[in-house]
Amino acid sequence: MMISGLRVLFIAAEAAPLVKVGGLADVAGSLPRALQALPIEITGAKGIDVRVVLPFHGAIDRTNLNFRPVAAFTISHASGPIPGQVFETKVNGFTVYLVSGPPIMPEAPIYTSDAGVDGIKYTFFSLAALEFVRATNWSPHILHAHDWHTSPAVYALSLNRNHSSFFAHTATLLTVHNLPYLGVGAQSALQDYGLPPDYKGLLPEWARQMPLPLGLLSADHINAVSETYAQEMMTPEFGSGLDGFLRTRQDSISGILNGLDMQSWDPQTDKAIPVNFSTDTLVERKENKMRLQAELSMGPNPRIPLLAMITRMDHQKGVDLAVEGLRQIAHLPWRAVILGTGDPQLETMARDLAAEHPTKVHVITRFDGDLARRIYAGADMILVPSRYEPCGLTQMIGMRYGCVPVVRAVGGLKDTVGEYGDGEGTGFLFAEANPAVFADAVSRALDVYSDQRRWRGLQLRGMQQDFSWKQSAVKYFELYQQLATDRVGV
Ligand code: GLC
Repeated sequence: MMISGLRVLFIAAEAAPLVKVGGLADVAGSLPRALQALPIEITGAKGIDVRVVLPFHGAIDRTNLNFRPVAAFTISHASGPIPGQVFETKVNGFTVYLVSGPPIMPEAPIYTSDAGVDGIKYTFFSLAALEFVRATNWSPHILHAHDWHTSPAVYALSLNRNHSSFFAHTATLLTVHNLPYLGVGAQSALQDYGLPPDYKGLLPEWARQMPLPLGLLSADHINAVSETYAQEMMTPEFGSGLDGFLRTRQDSISGILNGLDMQSWDPQTDKAIPVNFSTDTLVERKENKMRLQAELSMGPNPRIPLLAMITRMDHQKGVDLAVEGLRQIAHLPWRAVILGTGDPQLETMARDLAAEHPTKVHVITRFDGDLARRIYAGADMILVPSRYEPCGLTQMIGMRYGCVPVVRAVGGLKDTVGEYGDGEGTGFLFAEANPAVFADAVSRALDVYSDQRRWRGLQLRGMQQDFSWKQSAVKYFELYQQLATDRVGV
């Protein structure tokens, strides 16, 4: 049985291009469009109606944004009802709904270091998204939530839907982009908004009133953003203390790899790079390397391999591993550029390496999207030594731009990069999160690089990979159908 005209309520803390901190925004910005663009042979004549709801963060630029109010309601709270309002706007032709209300303070950043403040904001937002569809009488077949911020909606719905005809047929899907962010600190916010701890389920004691664990407990289905991460979440190394609990839900856990916005990331049309190129004109790529060297004030040298790291400076990303690993192979011929901001300690570690090897290593600690593009288009290798990586985008962008990935074999990295072998593979993988093992993988890559014929084959295979959203959107659509159908049968 197929449900025609499937209605999906899609809620997230951030979505590009309106508001972006991390990879979640790329997914929440691209997936709904990709779903809406699915052909009617897949969706049926009535298509699919995906409504994206976001908090109306102060960081959202209001200057050229036309928005109009579409709903107003109150959310109950221990201190008395709190008013909420929803505005409708269009972003590149796509309708988006923005929730405002006192807990979504205009001056507050998207995420603060104060988990209590974030807990109040996102619990309010989660409940307001449910109130919004009720107020507009638009009953969804699917509630699709992402990470801890919107998990309270999943939990609230599970508490209500057996007594509410409006949500009786709504199935819930929770996508995990980053398991360790459990929403610690939001416990009292949940309580104040009337969401009780859970004592019936199988959550460990310490997790019974935390947003993500409650979402994982109550969602009809859980998916991770790669198949490997879906499995890894159920192991002690990656499970953030919830692996045992997650194993009890293994029949309801799957993985769907994120796609890449192939239009935005296209070396043939990218306006930020000096020379556009494709698989047919790969030789022209080296001009980008020369210009990048000039831009970074490195002496020109087309032959010496240029390694790159483009990353948030975060423990997850293994910046420290990369720095120490590169130090161990400083005697080999390479140069490196590291671009990224974040943890000051990691920034300092990277700068220290540059100070020790000023002609080899350049570190730029700022966010610069255009420079990132010029690096993808000009560097030879992109290093991604993550401790864990639910999906990861940089390795996919690297491959599309002929910048060969050297990655740790975890999560989405493992699912998107194939180990180099004679005439096959798209990059280099290593197993343990350890500087020497990382350095060994870089050395292997340097070896292959010295044979330009083999290297070109590697680049071309990467550039020919199809990372478009289409395939993943089909998988989400099929999952939605299955969950909605199961729910009707309840
Ligand atoms: C998080 C994960 C990253 C993933 C992104 C989008 O940022 O760390 O691996 O690609 O979410 O799903």
